[in-house]
Amino acid sequence: MEGPRAPHQNEFPRVLEFLNKELRPQYDWSLDVEYPTALTMSNINNIRIIKSQEKVLSHAVIRPLIVKSPTAIWKVGAIGSVVTHPEHRSQGLSTTILESCLTEAQKQDCDIAILWTNLYDFYRKLDFELAGSEISFVINKSLKIQNPSQLKFMTGNQISAEAILKVYSQHSVNTVRTAEEIRKYLSIPKTQTYTAWDSTGQLVAYAVEGKGADLTGYIHEWGGSVSGLMALFNYIRETKAGKDFTVIIPGHSVNLQQALLNNGIVPTEGFLGMIKILNKEAVFNKITKAARNIGLTDFQIHSFDHSTQFQFGDQVVTARSARDLIQVIFGPNPKIPGLNQDLQGKMNRLFPMNLWLWGWDSI
Ligand SMILES: CC(C)(COP(=O)(O)OP(=O)(O)OC[C@H]1O[C@@H](n2cnc3c(N)ncnc32)[C@H](O)[C@@H]1OP(=O)(O)O)[C@@H](O)C(=O)NCCC(=O)NCCS
Repeated sequence: MEGPRAPHQNEFPRVLEFLNKELRPQYDWSLDVEYPTALTMSNINNIRIIKSQEKVLSHAVIRPLIVKSPTAIWKVGAIGSVVTHPEHRSQGLSTTILESCLTEAQKQDCDIAILWTNLYDFYRKLDFELAGSEISFVINKSLKIQNPSQLKFMTGNQISAEAILKVYSQHSVNTVRTAEEIRKYLSIPKTQTYTAWDSTGQLVAYAVEGKGADLTGYIHEWGGSVSGLMALFNYIRETKAGKDFTVIIPGHSVNLQQALLNNGIVPTEGFLGMIKILNKEAVFNKITKAARNIGLTDFQIHSFDHSTQFQFGDQVVTARSARDLIQVIFGPNPKIPGLNQDLQGKMNRLFPMNLWLWGWDSI
């Protein structure tokens, strides 16, 4: 057996053949058009395969992403397309491949790794844990709009990537993207983009539904003003002849959440994904810097084998497990018993740190 290693350039078509057969047998597109920035020649050094006798047996890919937030810039290794040939499962191949991916992500200074899965126990063995806050709202009625303005709505992906980028860049938390990357995302099969334009031809809001085989009926990307988005959601419902759809919203996007709550739309709380800390020292340094920036000058973090202490002056909060630690940092807030009001207030000012990956970045 060979690997785990990155494929050579001339092996890339074979790798795609393997992925298409194992992960997309019923679809008429190739997986690289679904994940155009991950399964691409320019990311080949971040792909890992195990081969035997010229056959690919196991695969995973990392896509390093820079996530900007008001309090920190995170380097995140998103992991995807984890798969082992059915005849070679339960021999440790995926575990070995994932370990290689994580080592590579660490080499590239990623602070954390993230992935999207329902195989929680499989990934917990590699110290991933559910964390981050995602709230979903099923839009099941027409929304009331305050101060409605004259907007023109459109359905379709033939729109300017630059216009999307301009609105996307206004998010407080987002990954660094180029217009070229957005152009590629707009070409993903089964991606539908809805847009709202004002009378001067400026993009006011956009919403993206579906992504290849995933997220049908889910708005996983959106941007623009709350009022523009509410009007756009009404338009989307009309185009779907009143059929319900779900909007996925970061925990920190409280204005859009409030507008939907005011309309009686019920939220469901979930996790952003499964996250693993790759570089504790870098993560703790970023948190400490963020604490200083908001005036918590006496904040320190102390790391022990199985626990972590957050110290505010002479008061201490202890995260007793890796799970508590990742959920303290990125939410949703785990209940840590025994905190007085002052200490809980300080914790709430610092945590959770806002972290979000828009749907197009999920791999
Ligand atoms: C999940 C998958 C990648 C594991 O690959 P693998 O090479 O067999 O993995 P490993 O041999 O390293 O580890 C197997 C372990 O995972 C566990 N596992 C496998 N599938 C699992 C599942 N669906 N749920 C929970 N655990 C699972 C096995 O029980 C085994 O545990 P053990 O070592 O304690 O016996 C493989 O089953 C696969 O390709 N599945 C289809 C594609 C897929 O679902 N990918 C994951 C997308 S996030």
